[in-house]
Amino acid sequence: MKVPKICSLVVFSFIFLFSMDSYAHEHEKAVSNQKENTAGEVMYTTQIKAIFEQRCAKCHGAGSPEHDEFEQNEDKYTALKKGPRMDSYTYLTSFIVWPETGAIMRRLDDGKNSKSGKPGSMYNNLGDTDEERQENLSIFKAWIGNWNLKKWPDVTKKELDLLKVKY
Ligand code: HEC
Repeated sequence: MKVPKICSLVVFSFIFLFSMDSYAHEHEKAVSNQKENTAGEVMYTTQIKAIFEQRCAKCHGAGSPEHDEFEQNEDKYTALKKGPRMDSYTYLTSFIVWPETGAIMRRLDDGKNSKSGKPGSMYNNLGDTDEERQENLSIFKAWIGNWNLKKWPDVTKKELDLLKVKY
């Protein structure tokens, strides 16, 4: 009776060690993927926030109203050069995903994706030179992942799935 007991203990130890080893490998792989993503992908915290602060915050910052409050008193706020508030990840993405689906894309587009061929009314604010505007536009595009100008009733679940907007 003693021999089989030892045998099964040895077999069990092998299985245990092997599974720990492959767990460690999987874990290492997951960690390195995460690092690659962080290094290669545009994120709100690493790039978008800084562009927003430099180019948009004076009119869309803490002194600006919530979107619906803005809409109810649009003339007043527009005269004060205040647009709706967008100075956090959560505020900003509500102008990309829902309820103001595609608003950032419609306003920042350079005209290449719009039916009229005209740039969106906020495109100019992206930079002082065309080079800077194009550079910042491409950073926004990479961050958003699916540059789609559609509004909520027309956008598809598939198109929403392609959005990246990493924090
Ligand atoms: C000089 C002030 C000013 C700057 C700078 C500015 N905006 Fe605006 N923005 C406004 C005003 C005022 C409105 C509301 C009037 C209108 O619809 O054009 C507005 C509207 C918008 C809207 C539409 C919101 C909605 O209700 O759908 C978006 C999106 C937007 N801005 C994005 C931006 C982004 C992104 C930047 C920075 C690249 C920016 N804006 C820079 C003043 C500004």
